[in-house]
This record gives sequence, structure tokens and C-alpha cells, in this order.
Amino acid sequence: MHTAPLTFRIAAPSDPDVSNVLTLVRSAYRGDASRAGWTTEADLLADERIDHAGVLAKIAAPDGVILMAHDETGALASCCELLKRPDGKLAYFGLFAVDPTRQAGGIGRQVLAEAERYAKQELGVERMEMSVIWTRDELIAWYVRRGYTKTEETRPFPYEHLVNGKALRDDLYFSMLVKDL
Ligand SMILES: CC(C)(COP(=O)(O)OP(=O)(O)OC[C@H]1O[C@@H](n2cnc3c(N)ncnc32)[C@H](O)[C@@H]1OP(=O)(O)O)[C@@H](O)C(=O)NCCC(=O)NCCS
Repeated sequence: MHTAPLTFRIAAPSDPDVSNVLTLVRSAYRGDASRAGWTTEADLLADERIDHAGVLAKIAAPDGVILMAHDETGALASCCELLKRPDGKLAYFGLFAVDPTRQAGGIGRQVLAEAERYAKQELGVERMEMSVIWTRDELIAWYVRRGYTKTEETRPFPYEHLVNGKALRDDLYFSMLVKDL
């Protein structure tokens, strides 16, 4: 698989790409734009996933970062968040998005690998965790192929925090996946 080289950068509050992060995340997770990709939450949720203040809060979190990946033209191709948990040994991985028109070309694999490197070397953690909506078998299988284990742990879906929209199902919850780094 040929994959274009990516340049990684941690987002700052004043970063000109903050609004692009918002657009990217929304387009990858929700609505018809996300159907261009191979996995989407468009049939589960009809909200906006996150708002500008939500992105800024993640950037400003003392133990958190948003990692951005730009392609050779300088366009934002992917992003994710890493949040170091209070025990100092575990990082949460989330907000993972690849431009839906460019998925299935190896970008996601590269970004996850860089996130794991960053979590281990820069945040100093030993383990990564992530939450995936339980219905998303194809996505869980992708993470399992990347070395993650689906645990028995589940967490409630935050129905009360949906952004400008609604859920399309009332039986959602998260499955927790973990990987030793
Ligand atoms: C999950 C996501 C980040 C992966 O990014 P990506 O650039 O497509 O990832 P890659 O190109 O590295 O990998 C694509 C994989 O999809 C697989 N794939 C492609 N089409 C598929 C399909 N129709 N069904 C299942 N798997 C498929 C490929 O086989 C490949 O897996 P492999 O490398 O193990 O063979 C991206 O799809 C995305 O942004 N999804 C929407 C947001 C989301 O769900 N984020 C994660 C929330 S926890």
C-alpha cells in the first residue's frame, strides 16, 4: 500500500487548523459526508459530534493533546486526541478521524502508530485505552488487527452531551479496548 508521507504536529489554541480539526471530525463521524469512508456513526447519531469549544478544551487540557497529521500539500488529513489518565500509566485515545475521501489508504494506521509512539515516549504511559460504540464491529476488528484487546468493560454513552442533534438509537454504550505499549 502506498501511503503519502505525513507531518505530525500538536495543536495549540491559536493554531490556524483548529477549525479544520472541527470540520474533519464532523465529516468523518457524522452525516452523509462520512459515508464516503468505510466506517461511520451516521446511522447511530445525528448530531455534530463536537463543537469549537470542545476542541479547544481538549487542546487546553493539562494532560491532553490533539495530534494533527498533514499531508505533503499541507492539508489536514487526520487527527486524534491523547489524554493522560491521573495514574500516569494510561492514556486515552480518541477523536480519531481521517478525511473520509482519503480513508482505507493507510493514513489511519500511520496516525495510530504515531499516537502510540507519542503516548509512550512523550507522555510516558505504558498502556492505551479507547472507547468504541459496541455496534461497530468492523472498527473494533481494525483495532484488534492493530494489537488492541476488547475488554469486558463497558461505559455509558453520554446521551446528555450530544452537540446540536440527537441519537438515532437508545441502546448505545461503549466497549473499552486496551493495548500495552
Ligand atoms: C477509523 C479511521 C480513523 C481509519 O482510518 P483509515 O485511514 O481508513 O485507516 P487505514 O487506511 O490505515 O486502514 C483501513 C482499514 O480498513 C479496512 N477496510 C477498508 N474497507 C473496509 C470495509 N468496508 N469494511 C471493513 N474494513 C474495511 C482495510 O482493510 C484496512 O484495514 P487493514 O489495514 O487492517 O487491512 C477512519 O476510518 C475514520 O476516520 N473513521 C470515522 C471516524 C471513526 O470512526 N473514528 C474512530 C472512532 S473510535
